[in-house]
Amino acid sequence: MKEEKKISNAVTKMIFFYHGSTHDIEHFLKVWAYARTIGEQENLNEELQETLELASIIHDIACPLCRSKYGSTEGKYQEKEGMPLAREFYQEFDLPEEMLNRICYLVGHHHTYTGVDGLDYQILLEADFLVNASESHYSRPQIESFQKKVFKTGSGLKLLNSIYQLQG
Ligand SMILES: [Fe+2]
Repeated sequence: MKEEKKISNAVTKMIFFYHGSTHDIEHFLKVWAYARTIGEQENLNEELQETLELASIIHDIACPLCRSKYGSTEGKYQEKEGMPLAREFYQEFDLPEEMLNRICYLVGHHHTYTGVDGLDYQILLEADFLVNASESHYSRPQIESFQKKVFKTGSGLKLLNSIYQLQG
């Protein structure tokens, strides 16, 4: 697969994967846009930036399966079902094994806020929260609690503070 089209190929494949579920499609596009932006602002190296973007595109890949299998997209179900789906999704992309493993790990942990062991993981959590806080109408205290407990990157914090008009 042509290196320079990897990201747009992943985006296109993910849109097809969701079979017209515009909520899921628009959710991942927003999370990817924030993840890409924060990653670049935080000066991630090329490989880590690519890992982050590819993980953010498919982070909710287990949602349709979890809805039909469990009637719920709760984090624990998504994390259980997401890793094999992620591996299968990127099989044809010829990613380095280490990168593919990391992407699967991130998909399998994107609802876990402890043991965050890298900037790719941290930024995925922040990007997903930036979108979820608006989509799920989180209260101001909930958002302020995330600001203090979860957000770590300067760029993520600046975005959070501006979008939700918080004091820095
Ligand atoms: Fe998400």
